[in-house]
Amino acid sequence: MQISVRDYARECAEQGLRGDYSVCRADFTVDQPYAYSDEDQTVWRTLCDRQMKLTRRLAHRSYLDGVAALGLTGRIPDFAEVSERLKAMTGWTIVAVPGLIPAGPFFEHLASRRFPVTNWLRSESELDYIVEPDMFHDFFGHVPILTQPAFADFMQMYGEKAQGLFDLGGGDMITRLYWYTAEYGLIGEPGQPVKAFGAGLMSSFTELSFAVEGAGANHVPFDLETVMRTGYEIDKFQRAYFVLPSFSALRSAFETADLAAIVARARDLPPLDPASLKDA
Ligand SMILES: [Fe+2]
Repeated sequence: MQISVRDYARECAEQGLRGDYSVCRADFTVDQPYAYSDEDQTVWRTLCDRQMKLTRRLAHRSYLDGVAALGLTGRIPDFAEVSERLKAMTGWTIVAVPGLIPAGPFFEHLASRRFPVTNWLRSESELDYIVEPDMFHDFFGHVPILTQPAFADFMQMYGEKAQGLFDLGGGDMITRLYWYTAEYGLIGEPGQPVKAFGAGLMSSFTELSFAVEGAGANHVPFDLETVMRTGYEIDKFQRAYFVLPSFSALRSAFETADLAAIVARARDLPPLDPASLKDA
């Protein structure tokens, strides 16, 4: 059964989460009153300037093209303006949320080509690390790659299929797929150096360069079922990064796989250890 906004607001308050969930609509969205302080704008520019020095070298070109097309770096983005540009490119829009939202509504937004973005930004003292995802992670990390048509299609399909797989007992498995693609995905097109596109990497000052060019980074060829079976840890550098040959390969693998059969085969098995997977 889906959790109500009121119950979720209470749980978040008890956990000390920062967003104001008391003003959520039924789909967990809120407004983005564009009333950021000078300090907020400075933090945004500092984060973007610092991170763009890395992404120019280490991010896939479709991510960089997305940043340029959406105009994200000069000031805190206006959700409505970015939505208009993104919609013209791949049909996606941005909706503001107070922070993490429950899985069900999150999937429903993705299935409708709406990406939920947190409407508050970390403070100056949190430039390097923040526990909850904030606007920088959500916007700078996730949104630019939604201009890439095949990845945009994958994310919509993910939203359409994820709840059904949760209901089959595949919650961990489908979450791992998101983790190793949308958050920590790499791409190595034929004849090209490996580049990054996942949001966890794009918004990390330290892990992005480790993941792409670190001597100890474990690059593993993408295989849908292997990804869905591989465990992960949230507060350490990843011990495996899956490398896609192309975004359309991801879309096609997800579109054609018998996901229910994969879940049935593996849901009761222990997760694979990422460190045990072989380098590409
Ligand atoms: Fe994320």
